[in-house]
Amino acid sequence: MPDNKPTLRSAQWFGTADKNGFMYRSWMKNQGIADHQFNGKPIIGICNTWSELTPCNAHFRTIAEHVKRGVIEAGGFPVEFPVFSNGESNLRPTAMLTRNLASMDVEEAIRGNPIDGVVLLTGCDKTTPALLMGAASCDVPAIVVTGGPMLNGKHKGRDIGAGTIVWQMHESYKAGQISLDEFLSAEAGMSRSAGTCNTMGTASTMACMAEALGTSLPHNAAIPAVDSRRYVLAHMSGMRAVQMVREDLRLSKILTKGAFENAIRVNAAIGGSTNAVIHLKAIAGRIGVELELDDWTRIGRGTPTLVDLQPSGRFLMEEFYYAGGLPAVLRRLGENNLIPNPDALTVNGQTLWQNVQNSPIYGDDEVIRAIDNPLVADGGICVLRGNLAPLGAVLKPSAATPALMTHRGRAVVFEDFDMYKARINDPDLDVDASSILVMKNCGPKGYPGMAEVGNMGLPAKLLAQGVTDMVRISDARMSGTAYGTVVLHVAPEAAAGGPLAVVREGDYIELDCASGRLHLDIPDSELQARLADWQAPSQSLLVGGYRQLYIDHVMQADQGCDFDFLVGCRGSEVPRHSH
Ligand code: FES
Repeated sequence: MPDNKPTLRSAQWFGTADKNGFMYRSWMKNQGIADHQFNGKPIIGICNTWSELTPCNAHFRTIAEHVKRGVIEAGGFPVEFPVFSNGESNLRPTAMLTRNLASMDVEEAIRGNPIDGVVLLTGCDKTTPALLMGAASCDVPAIVVTGGPMLNGKHKGRDIGAGTIVWQMHESYKAGQISLDEFLSAEAGMSRSAGTCNTMGTASTMACMAEALGTSLPHNAAIPAVDSRRYVLAHMSGMRAVQMVREDLRLSKILTKGAFENAIRVNAAIGGSTNAVIHLKAIAGRIGVELELDDWTRIGRGTPTLVDLQPSGRFLMEEFYYAGGLPAVLRRLGENNLIPNPDALTVNGQTLWQNVQNSPIYGDDEVIRAIDNPLVADGGICVLRGNLAPLGAVLKPSAATPALMTHRGRAVVFEDFDMYKARINDPDLDVDASSILVMKNCGPKGYPGMAEVGNMGLPAKLLAQGVTDMVRISDARMSGTAYGTVVLHVAPEAAAGGPLAVVREGDYIELDCASGRLHLDIPDSELQARLADWQAPSQSLLVGGYRQLYIDHVMQADQGCDFDFLVGCRGSEVPRHSH
């Protein structure tokens, strides 16, 4: 007899003593499954992004085994299944191109199979939003277990952060300060254990977002990948997934507008990645929550950045965990009335505040700073608008140079990434430290996939002069491990005919983060005339196939880059069966 209320979804497959039940059960029995397994146990899918081509998720088979132990202990029936794994480091042209593809895979795999609840095993940047998007479109009970960050990188006796050290050392190499051998010698030491990037890059940010949204157990974000406590968390998450099915605790009860507001506030407090702006919008769209760029201004701006992690600060995720992890940050925010919705429900059935109100904070306020001694007093994401970005653009103040956040400069224009690479180190390039580097056609449709190339490396001749930062503007994204005064996600993008497309070399551009203004300083009549003359760039890359689907249906950055036809929650009902 079923041991649950309401009736299990999986009973539609396995719960009938007839031809259909026979067929659904019989093939499953070839795995050695006994009759009683089909007798009302909640079936928990373990949605696994394991892949040896996604090194950040390559340890997920072990994590899945610990999830299974928890599911079984709680009286459930675990079934592990693979989904498309888009790893940031290997996948060309950019893993973002396949975030939506992975989300479709997840959605259809969950809806089409006899699954009552699901544990989402995520890690590398795009895998966390992709799996949450897919699960949200089905609105089943779901809990996120991320793979955890790598141990601190080590090089020449000091800690180095994944990703960030690459940008730093490459600039030093281009400036002639270190040799190629020295640059390459950091490779092995940067990635010395299983896990995701150990900086507050996009993977760590999205793990923190999953925790702040209430979709994972407390401490999920920061426990190192190889720490035994991550396996305990996986075990407990498996147990909890079974209970969530019994309580009918679906994602729609957790992913409320209030939960997203909490996540935006947390992103500011941790100095999180700009990519979170795009991913949270896409996840919200799948569950029917209205989230706008202006919410980032309303909720996030002015929030002190408390977490002193690279790329904004000094430390790495290992120290973050030892200092108390995200629960400690949430406690500090909550004690200062800075959690917008402390009563938001989380996967363990407790509210966000109940989970964290007694969380210890270690480390003498060094890694998790005090409210009155923040890393950045005015953190968050700066949303910019103006005639150059009518639908918005973003900048991360904690990664920027304060003196450049109000700046007027002459544009040095690259029509695309190839032109940037060809020109940037040309000794004759007419550029100085006050110039603004502008790159076009790297947005969702233009690249396609909106690559992380917005943090354009500076001209070698300026690096050699000691220049460390310049204003850069593009419709691209930026790695969460990167830094600089970088305006990203300009919308509409150049390839969609946005004003960015008609910026010309020598135009003056005004950036003012305080007022949120991004202005191309030409007469409006001139701007309109240029836009009327604009012609879309020809698609020279591979067309057809999935890329064509992507170009035809991807929405702009301010809409989360989801496909127009994927927005919304389609539920878990399957009206027909095949037998
Ligand atoms: Fe996978 Fe950074 S490359 S988390």
